[in-house]
Amino acid sequence: MMRHDKESFLHLPTPLEYLPALSRELGIEFYIKRDDLTGLGGGGNKLRKLEYFLYDAKTKGATALITVGGAQTNHGRLTAAVAAKYGMKCTIVAVDEYPGEVSANILLDRIMGADVLLHKDDGTPIADIVDKVAKNYEKAGEKPYFIPMGGSNELGALGYYECARELLKQTENSSVFVAVGSMGTYMGLFCGLHGSSVKLTGILIGPFYDDAQSYALNYFNRCKSAWKLNFNAERSDFDIRTGFIRGGYNNPVKEVREGIYEMARKEAIIIDPCYTGKAYAAIRDMVASGDIKQGEKIIFIHTGGTPGINTPSHRREMEKELIDGITIE
Ligand SMILES: Cc1ncc(COP(=O)(O)O)c(C=O)c1O
Repeated sequence: MMRHDKESFLHLPTPLEYLPALSRELGIEFYIKRDDLTGLGGGGNKLRKLEYFLYDAKTKGATALITVGGAQTNHGRLTAAVAAKYGMKCTIVAVDEYPGEVSANILLDRIMGADVLLHKDDGTPIADIVDKVAKNYEKAGEKPYFIPMGGSNELGALGYYECARELLKQTENSSVFVAVGSMGTYMGLFCGLHGSSVKLTGILIGPFYDDAQSYALNYFNRCKSAWKLNFNAERSDFDIRTGFIRGGYNNPVKEVREGIYEMARKEAIIIDPCYTGKAYAAIRDMVASGDIKQGEKIIFIHTGGTPGINTPSHRREMEKELIDGITIE
């Protein structure tokens, strides 16, 4: 593995916590790795990737960060956080509808001073929109730096390679579960856990890939050559479960909300309806089906995303389910 430099701004290592009530409930030895407690801007997995992007951006003299995602992107929020902390400008570009109100991640983006550009889908490639934003920055005398969606390229995945090395100092002989979106988190973990006694399972949370394992192999090979890794992988090495998408990306799902309530009521940990809630719902299903064995040691990576509970489409469903416990006299 080649050495890579980063700008350190996180509270590392993140804690690995035992969950006693859910361990009893599920009949497993259940731990959570608190990557939601990573410090800036509400925290979450993207900050580990951003340590590497920020170093690269600063080395290149950048003064503004541009990134892309959905309107409620957590990665955008954390890019906004890093920009704020380092005195940089920031624009988050989304080809998406306006969600009807300024709340959840968009509210936090604006609180932290980032601009949000919501472009209604009219067939314009997102790269063209980004190009325009970059040119405007240049005209204003700024030096823009582009970070890809979810921070998921070879550079961003280094953050989770490092997380895997951190995890190996905290545990052995266990199975790690993580939500998969743009796959940088999974890929960094995969590479960093290689050859250890810790297994890795990814839970795909949206229909992003025709063939997730082929996509993973291609991504792995890019990391392998960029980082000069000395091992190979094949398609079947990537344990990425595609059966827990539950109808689409970021859609409100009852079983996911039930998982959110359970985690909150038994362990006082808040998970989110788009990523971590779906991954936790998958863990519950896999325990019920026997795919996860009784007594198994399971580590769930809390990748953050909690502002998502305030996304109007999710919040409205929760309001309906929770209003009964509010008494107004
Ligand atoms: C809260 C949360 N968890 C998990 C993920 C998935 O990470 P990745 O895109 O690296 O697969 C994301 C990505 O946006 C996220 O915001």
